[in-house]
Amino acid sequence: ELPREVTIWEVGARDGLQNEQDTVPLEVKIEFLRRLADAGLGVLEATSFVHPKWVPQLADATELLAQLERAPGVRYPVLVPNERGLDRALDSRVAEIAIFAAATEAFSSRNLNRSLDEQFAMFDPVVHRAVREGLSVRGYLSMCFGDPWEGPVPAEQVVGVGKRLLEMGCNQLSLGDTIGVATPGQVESLLGAFAAAGVGMDRIAVHFHDTYGQALANTYAALRLGVSTVDSSAGGLGGCPYAKSATGNLATEDLVWMLDGLGIGHGVDLGALVDTSVWMSGKLGRPSPSRVVKALAA
Ligand code: HMG
Ligand code: MG
Repeated sequence: ELPREVTIWEVGARDGLQNEQDTVPLEVKIEFLRRLADAGLGVLEATSFVHPKWVPQLADATELLAQLERAPGVRYPVLVPNERGLDRALDSRVAEIAIFAAATEAFSSRNLNRSLDEQFAMFDPVVHRAVREGLSVRGYLSMCFGDPWEGPVPAEQVVGVGKRLLEMGCNQLSLGDTIGVATPGQVESLLGAFAAAGVGMDRIAVHFHDTYGQALANTYAALRLGVSTVDSSAGGLGGCPYAKSATGNLATEDLVWMLDGLGIGHGVDLGALVDTSVWMSGKLGRPSPSRVVKALAA
């Protein structure tokens, strides 16, 4: 049965921008976040407190949060990989963080400079301290369906890592198809494997990249199984710098169009969102890949 309401977790300012080659000026990022809040999005992933050499585009995280005017009722989670990142995030007085784990050995090594097991030693003190400080913690899990170096990823392996993140204290698990290879049958099997392992769909979010044009079909499969938090990026911006062949996320506009058709509530003003993506594509110098943006842009 489909949910009546979906929470859209907008990742455009983080996943969307982290891979941009040219530095996006701070004032453009702030204006982007302001426009997304004005368009009715309630969760805006704002930036990452990762090593600035690893993701230069988000090296301005501290300045961004210092200058950002928080819209009332809007949540602004940030990515944090380790204790140094948590110190920086706490200095910026964030209320929510997300750690980001890998379901595979290859991606853990490339994205985190750690083995699959070592990543837990890095996250464990972060999650415990964050929870003690009253923050809420999301756990991302990357390469849940396929990995560019390892190929298909067994569901048991994904469920194993995912359960460890939840047991550590993450309140939500976002299942990432980092390189966009998943198809709906695979989504059903993986969600079924989580359910069989006792993980309720109220604790799961889905995070699809649209590399092979499957993101919307995969989202629909997840909604039908009871998932009600969906990650997307305005205009379909994005890609992970440490995963070869990762393109943008599911476009928020494409998601909103489908939710409208299904009669599922989301709170977003589609016209204002399309205007924002058109404005942003002007700043980035290339058109949005979103079909809905193309169809609706005047
Ligand atoms: P490392 O080099 O192993 O770090 O990187 P280290 O712990 O050995 O520390 C080395 C130096 O870096 C130290 O400085 C630290 O203080 C400093 P020194 O003592 O040598 O002067 N340092 C930091 N400085 C600032 N902020 C920090 C920080 N940490 C260490 N947080 C690390 C390990 C995890 C930090 C690195 O690998 C990293 O930053 N990785 C981030 C990669 C990333 O951001 N990837 C994209 C996000 S994930 C994604 O996009 C997928 C997702 O969308 C879901 C999906 O699609 O599947 C979420
Ligand atoms: Mg991603």
